[in-house]
Amino acid sequence: NRCIYLIRHGESMLNLLGRIGGDSDLSERGRTFARRLGEWIDERCCDKDRPPLRVWTSHMHRTIQTAAFIKTPHVLSHWKALNELDAGVCEGMTYEEIAEKLPTEFANRDKDKFNYRYPQGESYGDLVARLEPVIMELERQSHVLVVCHQAVARCLLAYYMDVKHADLPYVRVPLHTVIRLTPVAYGCISEQISLDV
Ligand code: F6P
Repeated sequence: NRCIYLIRHGESMLNLLGRIGGDSDLSERGRTFARRLGEWIDERCCDKDRPPLRVWTSHMHRTIQTAAFIKTPHVLSHWKALNELDAGVCEGMTYEEIAEKLPTEFANRDKDKFNYRYPQGESYGDLVARLEPVIMELERQSHVLVVCHQAVARCLLAYYMDVKHADLPYVRVPLHTVIRLTPVAYGCISEQISLDV
């Protein structure tokens, strides 16, 4: 049976500081999680009669580092299209700094989070369009682990779970939690498995 494992990267140095975007490394806790994820996948995805697991990451260090401890034979690919939402001029800032320095931007995002585009960056709508080729390829695969980012995971989940655009940017995607998506007739089952460390 088909199954997609969807996961955010482990906690990063910038997550720890509450700063958005960037391309930081995993924190100590994020690395502990990556080891735990590796063991969890190795225990479950070692069936030699199945085609090897596909592991997809973004081009960002934190997703590549999160997938680095998987030992079971797998086929690894890095997709630029899986990179996190580009926050443009707000990359590296905290939400408090944005509210203080760019209050109009902050308010506009709050009013229409799906369509709001960061200056020199992207909107959730842009991200949905960017992810289209990933979703097309995902539909052709039977057994994939996607290691991505908060906003990206929201868009992918919304596609499979049929979430409305207005609700999509608020879908809860906790850190250190595997989301297992199992396509069934006319829909998809989603389960969350916490691997917290
Ligand atoms: O804070 C982590 C992060 O992945 C940022 O890089 C990104 O801008 C943000 O989450 C997306 O979440 P939201 O759209 O709720 O700000």
